[in-house]
Amino acid sequence: MASKSYEAAYRKVFGDRLVNLLANATTEEEIKDLYVDWASTYDKDLFTAGLVYHKHQTECFDAAIKQVFLDKPKNEIKIIDVGAGTGLIGVELKKLGYTNLHALDMSQEMLNEAKKKNAYQKFICAPLRDQRISEIETGEFDASICCGTLIAGHVRAEAFVEMIRMVKIGGLIHFNIRTGDLDDYVYQQKMLELEKAGRWVNVLKTTAPHYDRDDMPKESLVFVYKVLKN
Ligand SMILES: C[S@@+](CC[C@H](N)C(=O)[O-])C[C@H]1O[C@@H](n2cnc3c(N)ncnc32)[C@H](O)[C@@H]1O
Repeated sequence: MASKSYEAAYRKVFGDRLVNLLANATTEEEIKDLYVDWASTYDKDLFTAGLVYHKHQTECFDAAIKQVFLDKPKNEIKIIDVGAGTGLIGVELKKLGYTNLHALDMSQEMLNEAKKKNAYQKFICAPLRDQRISEIETGEFDASICCGTLIAGHVRAEAFVEMIRMVKIGGLIHFNIRTGDLDDYVYQQKMLELEKAGRWVNVLKTTAPHYDRDDMPKESLVFVYKVLKN
């Protein structure tokens, strides 16, 4: 599988904790347990790994938002960070002027770290699946962003329907996926299926730097979709 190409590098940097879990068969409980143990050192480990995607993804997001929301003040654009983790994306969005930020993650320990960043207004601790999250209204958000979370065992392809439901018609959904994961975990198939069904339309597909260490994945794919029917 293409994602195997990341294994050696990930094992070197993160130890066995991540590699052993990067499989479709991984359960939600296993993922939650992973982040219970990892939350307090997650930021340090990611920066040691050469993390740069948080800056590049948020810049792409900002450019896409400006094209759609034109003169709407950034602090009025209501955004949900899906799989917000410790809030690295929120910190960057806040620097760019986005302050109406909400964090969704199924790990309370990761959200506890995110709270310390003072970037988010509201925290929702729930798993994103293909089922409705009761705390979130249909079309509640102007936009969503999901970084580093569409990976094996984490948010699965069937959850795109719930990502669409929470964003208003005409709003934007931004996410990144490592190249090898696109087909391995059927993300691409589901993305096309939803486009054919008229639920969303792709407005951006590009690449952006991911890690800046030579032994780590250098790039990930960036996607932005506009919601057509939620
Ligand atoms: C690799 S971290 C990425 C965090 C953050 N977006 C970043 O870029 O630093 C993945 C996060 O997604 C969360 N997560 C994984 N699967 C999830 C799911 N199905 N629903 C909600 N959160 C999930 C994990 O708890 C973890 O905090």
